[in-house]
Amino acid sequence: MLNIALPKGRLGEKVYGMFAEAGFPCPEVLGNSRKLIFDNEAAGVRYFWVKPSDVAIYVERGAADVGVCGKDILLEYRPEVYELLDLQTGKCRMAVAAPKGFRDQAERTLRVATKFSRIARDFYAGQGRDIDIIHLNGSIEIAPILGLSDVIVDIVETGTTLKENDLEVIETIVPISARLIANKSGFRFKTEQMERLTAKLRERGEDA
Ligand code: PRP
Repeated sequence: MLNIALPKGRLGEKVYGMFAEAGFPCPEVLGNSRKLIFDNEAAGVRYFWVKPSDVAIYVERGAADVGVCGKDILLEYRPEVYELLDLQTGKCRMAVAAPKGFRDQAERTLRVATKFSRIARDFYAGQGRDIDIIHLNGSIEIAPILGLSDVIVDIVETGTTLKENDLEVIETIVPISARLIANKSGFRFKTEQMERLTAKLRERGEDA
């Protein structure tokens, strides 16, 4: 049985569809219940829904053999997992954004609000820029509006949230997409199953 951690929500549902089409179905997964774990013994899979930011924890600790999480989580938390495949979905980017018309003054410490402290720190360290990180857990876009920060480092998908809050992208840090990840020791024991899953998902991606 391959234990698969899926990120709860729209991306997870889409990704489940990809797994099902790749030959690993378990139709109950998309049922309207509060159940979180689903088995399909015939297909050799057990799916479970977890909070997107927790997928890597389940996989790193071996509670799941494989899982799907955003590259943002991999860059921010650097879990000890194998990254098997770029699923080419859930595409967005990590970017620096600021209120329209913002002018950076290089001699001043830049106040950066973000959920992604490590990504922000690494990015500005690469530029030799002094920053003050203000770690928030959500609704990051509000921070510069209320004067809590100068800029934000956050995920931009459609750009709607920025637009509706009069912010704009200043710089893209890195493109993001969903990745298939695997537990390192699990990969040794279930190599064949994981490679089959990866190959099927890759084939399916190439057909799409
Ligand atoms: C994410 C991100 C942005 C928004 C970007 O927030 O932090 O706020 O999506 O999407 P858009 O460019 O399509 O508008 P999320 O919905 O995860 O909520 P959060 O406020 O908890 O970060």
